Amino acid sequence: MRKQSYPAWVRRAGVALAAGVLLTVAGTASAARPSGKIGTDWGKEGGQECVDCHMTESPGLYKQWNDSQHGQSGVNCLDCHQADEKDADAWKHEGQYISVIVSPKDCSRCHDTEFKEVQRSHHASAGEILASLDNLLGEVVGGPAAVNVGCRQCHGAKVEVHTEGKQKGKPTAETWPNTGIGRMNPDGSKGSCTACHGRHGFSKAQARTPDTCGKCHIGPDHPQLEVYNESKHGIIYRASVDEMNLRSDKWVAGVDYVAAPTCATCHMSASPSEAKTHDVGERISWNLRSPVSNKINLVRLDNNVSYDVPEGQPLPKVGEVSTHAKAKGAKVVEVLTWEQRRSKMEGVCYACHTSGFVDGHYNQLDEFVNLYNEKFAKPIAAIMADLKKSGKLTPAPFDEKIEWVWWEIWHHEGRRARHGASMSGPDYAWWHGMYEVAKHTYFEFIPELEHLVGKQEADALLAKYFKPIEGHDWYFNGMSKEALDKVRKGYEERYGKGSLK
Ligand code: HEC
Ligand code: HEC
Ligand code: HEC
Ligand code: HEC
Ligand code: HEC
Ligand code: HEC
Ligand code: HEC
Ligand code: HEC
Repeated sequence: MRKQSYPAWVRRAGVALAAGVLLTVAGTASAARPSGKIGTDWGKEGGQECVDCHMTESPGLYKQWNDSQHGQSGVNCLDCHQADEKDADAWKHEGQYISVIVSPKDCSRCHDTEFKEVQRSHHASAGEILASLDNLLGEVVGGPAAVNVGCRQCHGAKVEVHTEGKQKGKPTAETWPNTGIGRMNPDGSKGSCTACHGRHGFSKAQARTPDTCGKCHIGPDHPQLEVYNESKHGIIYRASVDEMNLRSDKWVAGVDYVAAPTCATCHMSASPSEAKTHDVGERISWNLRSPVSNKINLVRLDNNVSYDVPEGQPLPKVGEVSTHAKAKGAKVVEVLTWEQRRSKMEGVCYACHTSGFVDGHYNQLDEFVNLYNEKFAKPIAAIMADLKKSGKLTPAPFDEKIEWVWWEIWHHEGRRARHGASMSGPDYAWWHGMYEVAKHTYFEFIPELEHLVGKQEADALLAKYFKPIEGHDWYFNGMSKEALDKVRKGYEERYGKGSLK
């Protein structure tokens, strides 16, 4: 028999015994499960009445619950919906105080680990978008009703409850329903678990599918689902759904399934070297959604708040009191550098790939993001800043056409490009991505700049910010005769003489 050597992830983790690691992984995987008992920790008595009546009042809802792990484990309606008379969202229903909203805090009674991981993640604060450019666009340029059915159904918003009258305790029609990922609940907790775990099945198998994330991670400004679907991962996933073992308990990549990774595989679920997490930012090293991308370090505090620190800015040390605005006197408990975040993601890749392949992927990604940053985003951002400073642009962000052009370059096209490159979607990296960035830089941004400040001043700005960048040579100096001849020759070999017009 051939002598087996340890797999790459064992060597990487610097661990001598594969068996030891497997045990730890299994331990981490099961630690998150509730350890209580029906009758003591759940299975509230009055719950049977809810079940009996809703069995006929809302049979679909009843059946979803009954067939779920909750139903099968004896976790009943009252275990989740029961409220205290004093709660803002409590109302009396058939003799019991209940609440329609079952917040992450309510789930935390039995699932504290998931609760904590969600609370500290970017997902939980996704409702705090009031101060953003996007919000101004939505509220003012669009209109509040559009924000309600658009932005807020993805991001989440504050749910208000009636404070008096017959409806006291019930959520208002203006703010409910809402299952946005960063919903602000009446009990102060953030997020909604049902954003990913559809009710009343609350299944992890469903949450592992890419379509779960695709409710929000889709569309012109963050087409992660489309990128995934066109990637080989997405293609093989769709062709092999039956082999994905989605209902598996631990669902360790490369062990419980091998066909292809889903969004959850890479961003949340367990691999041989990585424990699962509900903190979706843990394994990413770049911010790929800002106008100019930067690498990001992660700081976690003892009040379960965390925040990103861009590469190059000072990092606090473990044990120090953080001076960050979000910290409010809390101490640093963990610092993950961007390299450490990346190696967590790589730990997932090694379930199915080797380090040469994975290093190559990240090398291509980094080069691509640097190209976007250096050739397009930084010089345009610098010109926009100059225009603002010299009063050529009003302080209002969307009242001049050039502002829309720049907005779409970074917020739509530039993001699509970066997302395509990070998750192996070549059509998004190029045709929907960098191709559009280039086209709109040269043939929308520059003409609009000339229109705004006149040819002479535009030339001066371009000379200052664009000309020093080698990649723009062709635009200022034309293409060399050699380069053109090469293209002509290639064409003529394929399509015949005179084919390049
Ligand atoms: C005797 C029948 C009956 C019992 C018992 C009962 N419900 Fe209901 N429940 C209803 C009906 C009817 C509605 C209203 C349905 C509608 O408006 O479409 C309702 C509505 C609800 C709503 C939604 C309220 C809203 O405004 O959206 C929740 C949540 C709910 N019940 C949970 C419970 C829970 C938890 C229990 C057990 C404490 C329970 N129900 C017991 C019949 C019952
Ligand atoms: C594991 C916790 C859990 C259990 C168990 C549970 N619910 Fe719910 N229920 C929720 C969540 C979460 C929501 C969505 C509210 C939110 O987003 O906060 C909800 C919403 C509802 C709604 C209003 C939404 C709608 O679609 O009309 C009703 C009615 C309801 N539940 C009834 C019940 C009944 C009846 C049972 C028992 C058969 C039950 N629930 C069991 C968590 C639970
Ligand atoms: C289809 C769901 C969806 C809609 C609708 C939507 N967003 Fe988003 N938004 C997202 C997702 C997903 C991201 C994260 C993208 C990423 O990380 O690549 C995001 C990112 C953002 C960010 C950047 C956050 C950061 O940390 O950098 C802001 C700000 C924002 N959205 C505001 C809005 C506003 C305001 C609206 C409405 C005018 C809106 N969004 C509409 C899903 C949505
Ligand atoms: C962004 C989507 C998303 C959100 C939001 C989310 N989950 Fe999950 N959840 C998942 C995925 C994906 C899995 C499966 C992870 C895996 O493969 O092991 C999962 C698994 C679970 C499990 C099973 C854990 C186990 O060890 O078997 C529980 C319990 C759970 N989630 C609870 C919650 C609670 C409570 C919340 C809200 C505080 C929540 N989830 C919010 C996506 C989500
Ligand atoms: C009273 C305790 C209790 C509450 C409250 C509770 N759960 Fe659970 N949950 C359980 C138990 C028990 C299981 C089954 C665990 C098992 O079988 O090992 C479970 C399992 C799960 C699973 C795994 C289901 C699957 O198909 O694999 C998810 C996801 C989950 N819960 C999410 C939630 C969410 C979201 C909430 C709040 C809306 C919630 N739970 C509230 C006790 C609870
Ligand atoms: C209901 C909408 C919604 C769903 C469903 C959703 N997300 Fe998100 N996600 C968002 C929004 C909005 C943001 C941007 C939050 C911000 O930066 O403020 C985001 C951000 C992220 C980020 C960036 C985190 C960071 O720290 O920068 C990752 C990664 C992510 N989501 C992965 C997932 C995965 C994987 C799933 C499915 C298992 C998923 N999301 C499901 C709305 C959603
Ligand atoms: C093969 C693994 C893999 C799969 C599958 C995958 N991702 Fe990613 N994702 C990545 C990598 C790698 C990055 C870039 C990581 C970095 O910044 O270092 C990334 C970045 C992201 C970001 C951050 C974007 C930003 O603006 O900063 C979001 C959000 C995201 N993915 C969501 C998703 C969603 C939703 C799906 C499924 C539709 C998905 N991912 C599928 C590996 C994956
Ligand atoms: C569960 C197994 C699995 C995991 C985990 C996984 N991949 Fe893959 N990956 C595959 C399969 C299968 C293919 C298709 C191979 C082929 O036929 O070209 C693939 C292909 C690729 C390709 C080639 C794309 C193309 O168009 O040729 C890249 C790049 C890639 N993976 C990167 C990654 C990265 C980066 C990670 C971790 C963030 C990762 N993969 C995680 C299974 C996986």
